[in-house]
Amino acid sequence: MLKAICQINSIPEGGSYSIEFDQSALFVIKKREQIFIYINRCPHLHVPLNWEPNKFLNNSGDLIQCSTHGALFNIETGECLQGPCLGQSLQAVDYEVKDGKICIKESDLMWQ
Ligand code: FES
Repeated sequence: MLKAICQINSIPEGGSYSIEFDQSALFVIKKREQIFIYINRCPHLHVPLNWEPNKFLNNSGDLIQCSTHGALFNIETGECLQGPCLGQSLQAVDYEVKDGKICIKESDLMWQ
């Protein structure tokens, strides 16, 4: 079953957005009109990536950056390009856009 998580227009171009549920958290990035969604968990120590709400990108806005040890991740693939989890990847979440809303499978909201 699909669950709407936010309006696609609520994500600013080049911006990132936190989404939290009871037992899970993820984040959405819009880059060049494309949407990327990942579970908010660094593969290094399995902690949230951000230390401020809605701030997941480095200062130049071209990479995802972990706030704990600074690992840098490719926005499009989630692969770590630099840092202690080099070569590991963020966990991507599939989505669909329906009636202007970003929707994901409810089963994807339950992860360990
Ligand atoms: S916890 Fe993310 S780089 Fe160490």
